[in-house]
Amino acid sequence: MYNQNPTLEDVDKNIDEKRQGEALVLNENQGGKKFYIESYGCAMNFSDSEIVASILSKEGYSSTRVMEHSDLILINTCSIREKAEYNVRQRLREFDKVKKKNPGTLVGVMGCMAERLKTKLLEQEKLVDIVIGPDAYRDLPGLIATAEDGNKGVNVYLSREETYADISPLRLGSNGVTAFISIMRGCDNMCSFCVVPYTRGRERSRDAYSIVAEAADLYDRGFREVTLLGQNVDSYKWESPDQSENVNFAQLLERVALVSPELRIRFSTSHPKDITDDVLHTMKAHENICKYIHLPVQSGNSRILELMNRTYTREWYMERVNKIYEIMPDCAISADIITGFCSETEEEHQDTLSMIEFAKYSYSYTFSYSERPGTPAAKKFEDDIPLDVKKRRLAEVIKVQRDVSAKHNQKDLGKTFKVLIEGNSKKSELHFKGRNSQNKMIVFPKQEGLGPGDYTYVKVNDITSATLIGEITTV
Ligand code: SAH
Ligand code: SF4
Ligand code: F3S
Repeated sequence: MYNQNPTLEDVDKNIDEKRQGEALVLNENQGGKKFYIESYGCAMNFSDSEIVASILSKEGYSSTRVMEHSDLILINTCSIREKAEYNVRQRLREFDKVKKKNPGTLVGVMGCMAERLKTKLLEQEKLVDIVIGPDAYRDLPGLIATAEDGNKGVNVYLSREETYADISPLRLGSNGVTAFISIMRGCDNMCSFCVVPYTRGRERSRDAYSIVAEAADLYDRGFREVTLLGQNVDSYKWESPDQSENVNFAQLLERVALVSPELRIRFSTSHPKDITDDVLHTMKAHENICKYIHLPVQSGNSRILELMNRTYTREWYMERVNKIYEIMPDCAISADIITGFCSETEEEHQDTLSMIEFAKYSYSYTFSYSERPGTPAAKKFEDDIPLDVKKRRLAEVIKVQRDVSAKHNQKDLGKTFKVLIEGNSKKSELHFKGRNSQNKMIVFPKQEGLGPGDYTYVKVNDITSATLIGEITTV
């Protein structure tokens, strides 16, 4: 990831990193009907797949890793960039082959692409039997019945209330240590480039008590880290039905942190306009709230930020970064960055490069602008930056970030971190991997008596590419 000269292939790898599909598996050996599910896109989609798995298991379904063994193939889709949708269409070609061999198998498209294209998807992709949007998952059993009768099952209704608060997600493909908890759905922000408000609907916050109960249940089952998920977690706001109680994000964080000092809390994503000092002080006050903030900047230039409708300026963003480091000097910050947004000049692009250095991001997820049909940017602005310029700017962003990340990692050499063990390292059974509070992966030799879910102290003594290498130590 951190080799010296980024090629376009590296650029694409970087884009794909966060958005890989994954087959989720549970109880493969059970009898009865089987489903196979693949998820693409953001953590919210992965979390939704666990809700869908829970709904299906109540209907007597078990999941399978082998697509050919399934009665129902589901693909949870993402629309964020053109490439994300292209990948889904490629997968549908593969599903078609299975369906030709096993004509009874149903194919369902769920998630953001289902919501964006609605019945158009049925016209474009003949093999699809079910189209189901993110707020309609309770209706999946009904749509399966419709499809089994030979009709197309479609529900893309977007709700103002649905939070699936009462559905206990089935933790599929889980390491038993870390889990997502969805705390809100939808987005009201209307960033001009973004399709999410159209695919996920209006923002709504989930019952605070059900969130705390889910965290407590996970802790009781041995999980040691939860990530609170929403498109804009800092605007979380829940009011009890009798209106006697209001809970904002800082208060919710505190409630979850109090479940146990042994349960780590992470959250994503923070919008720079909404992250309050209150949230930062709550993070500082609780050792188990991880000192890591994903704070997407998108661009370092105020004119572009205004066109993007991000509602903050370069100076506002810098003030927030300064505040974070002032309150928590050990906090790591990461970002999302878009290059080549409509009318972006070379000077404006330079502002993004300098922002990476200013904010000292530990990492950034970087993308070149992809126009999405129906968004305000697609309606109002011309997508006028040529693809090669977008990609070149992206490669420059990646190069600067790589240097900043390398410096960030260098600073960790010789330091000792508390690490939550997640499992074996990818490369060696003799090593564990785990993350520190700042969300950096550290690999270290195993020690007798320790296993996944345990905390240990690790002293960093080497760095290879993006991973810190260390040894267990005492403090
Ligand atoms: N809610 C989060 C981000 C959700 S989408 C937030 O507000 O930060 C994840 C990232 O995809 C965005 O932060 C943005 O960097 C990128 N993205 C969204 N729409 C895009 C588009 N049309 N083209 C390229 N990248 C896009
Ligand atoms: Fe999209 Fe903006 Fe909402 Fe994030 S905050 S999901 S970028 S509209
Ligand atoms: Fe993609 Fe939908 Fe998430 S568009 S990024 S899966 S909210």
